[in-house]
Order: sequence, then C-alpha cells, then structure tokens
Amino acid sequence: MNQPDQLFKLLGVNGRDGEGLSKFAKKSGVSVRKLRYYNDNNILPSGTDLKLLLEASGLAELELTLGMGRLDSSVIGSIQKRAKDIAKIIGSEEKIEQQNQRTCSVAFTTTQGKLYRGDCQEILKTMASESVDLVFADPPFNLKKLYPSNIDDNLKSERYIHWCQQWIQECIRVLKHGGSLFLWNLPRWNVALSSFLDGRLNFRHWISVDIKYSLPIHGRLYPSHYALLYYVKGDKPNVFHPDRLPMQVCPHCYGDLKDYGGYKDKMNPLGVNLSDIWTDIPPVRHAKYKRRNGANELSLKLVDRIVEMASNEGDLIFDPFGGSGTTYMVAELKSRRWLGCEIGP
Ligand SMILES: C[S@@+](CC[C@H](N)C(=O)[O-])C[C@H]1O[C@@H](n2cnc3c(N)ncnc32)[C@H](O)[C@@H]1O
Repeated sequence: MNQPDQLFKLLGVNGRDGEGLSKFAKKSGVSVRKLRYYNDNNILPSGTDLKLLLEASGLAELELTLGMGRLDSSVIGSIQKRAKDIAKIIGSEEKIEQQNQRTCSVAFTTTQGKLYRGDCQEILKTMASESVDLVFADPPFNLKKLYPSNIDDNLKSERYIHWCQQWIQECIRVLKHGGSLFLWNLPRWNVALSSFLDGRLNFRHWISVDIKYSLPIHGRLYPSHYALLYYVKGDKPNVFHPDRLPMQVCPHCYGDLKDYGGYKDKMNPLGVNLSDIWTDIPPVRHAKYKRRNGANELSLKLVDRIVEMASNEGDLIFDPFGGSGTTYMVAELKSRRWLGCEIGP
C-alpha cells in the first residue's frame, strides 16, 4: 500500500512547507511542479530527474525504488540474494511492534473510535504523522492526586514539564496542517507549556474558564480559572465555528442584564460572540454526579464547545488522557471519529 507523501518522506522534504520544497527543488535542479507531480501520483522518477534526485538526497537508487514500493525484476533479484538479512530485519521490527501491542492493547472500539489501554506516549509512536484533525488533552495536573492507574502525580516541576513536552511534541507531529490543539491545565503549568508550544504551533487563544478549583489560599488570590490553550498548526485553522451565547437575562425577572448600548435590535439573533473568558461551564465535582471515581471528568459542555468549534463531522479527534471518556462520548454524539488512550483500569 502506498503511504501518502512517500517520495517527499524518502527525500527528507516536508511537502507542506513551500519554502522547504522550493529549496530542495533548487538544490536538486528538479522543479517544484515536477516534484509534486512525482509525489502526488507516487511515480518513481527516471532518467535525468532520477539522477538529480539521487545526487541531492544522497539516496541509492535501490533505496529509492524499494521505498517507493517498486518490485521490478532487478529489485526482486537483489531481495532474493539478501533474503536472509532482510528476513532478520523484518523479524526484529515485528518483535518491537508486538511489544508495543502488548503494552497498548485495544480496550474498546466503536464504529467511530478506538480506545487503547496504555501509555499515550507508546500509542502516539504508532500513529501516523499529520493524521489527526483535533487534539484535546487534559493531563494529570501533578497535584498529588491518587489516580486508579497509580501514576506518579507528584513529580518535580521540571520533570512534569519535560514529560508534558514529550507527549505534546508527539501530538504536534500527528496533528494535520490546519488542525487545532487544545490543552487543558492549571495556569501555573500552561504558562510553561505555552512557551514550548510557541514556535512549534501558532497561538490562537488562552481561554480562561471560570471554575473555582481549590479553597481560598491565605496570602494568595482565590484560584478561579483553568487555562485552556488553543493552538493551530499552520497559519489558520481548517475549522473554526465558535458558538454564540444567549444574551444574559436576570434569573428572576428574565430582563436583560445588559443594555447592549441601546443596539439590542441590531444584535445577531443567534446570540453574542464567544469570548476568551468562559463563565458558563459547570464543574463536575460532586461525587454523586461522577460516573467514574477518581477520573476527574470534565463537563460535557466544555468538550462539546471545543469539538463544535474546531472540527467537522467525520474528523478525527485524539485525546491522549481518556479518564472517564468525556471526549470520546462527545465525539460519538457529534459524529466525529476518535482515538484515545488511558493508562488506568
Ligand atoms: C485529568 S484525567 C482526564 C479526565 C478526562 N478528560 C475526563 O473528562 O474524564 C487524566 C487521565 O490521564 C490518565 N493518564 C495519566 N498518565 C497517562 C499516560 N501516560 N497515558 C495515558 N493516560 C494517562 C490518568 O489515569 C487519568 O485518568
């Protein structure tokens, strides 16, 4: 089966990066138009172009031919001569794959999605680059919480940040161009993670979600918001459909709380623009409302808003930290495909 962008991958060129592609075209002497033509149609270049591409990439002809999945008689002859060595290489790669499968078993599937049981970093390794439309991540917050998975939620700050950077880097790899990444965490951690994301993705918003998450702390301000970082791969998101919110009314008399500068009749009847401060997300905190103890489940409304804003029906959503499965539930309800993992039971 042909992989997308196989020629570009073999040549070590990022086909999405116009500048990178032009540079390679200049270096090799094969025009951008021709490079795209060969790549998009999975055509093995020949003649002068083949020679130029081999020179520029440092690849051997056999390497390129095999990499493009061509098995002509000369290639088959070479394979037959080295059958023993090739069998060894393939065998050892299969072993690694089996080990991965052992640590990451499939826990649950539907027609729309698949949940793996295992460490998200292992599962991410098996995922193709640029395959996901939306990433939403709600990792443990390193607050010494006891998770059913017994993960260490009390790491030194630098180790926690380093761990987050590792899986974020992989999430960036699997995100499609124009795809969106949302990262839910405490402001304390998202400050550091935001500076890691800057330069790798494009910043869209720091959304403050007004939810109190601890008791007032003496000598400090009362912590009252979670930070939802919103980044996009590339200049602009492929999908952006922000919700509109109903105009606020008094819960007693149902009169408007604001006068909208006297222009209420000119307002959009579908509601007011969504801002980067969300005050209408209920916490799901009381044990009796939780479906799964210890999972720190999020409000469906929060995840639903993100899914509606940044994906279309049929898009693929990845959430590396499944917990009680809020993201997967929203994806099912909203006809999105989904992939997830959870290290715990
Ligand atoms: C904050 S909770 C996610 C809650 C989820 N958003 C929900 O609404 O239910 C974080 C989850 O990540 C899981 N987890 C921690 N480390 C993990 C890892 N390396 N790979 C996969 N899951 C992990 C924890 O067991 C926990 O259930």
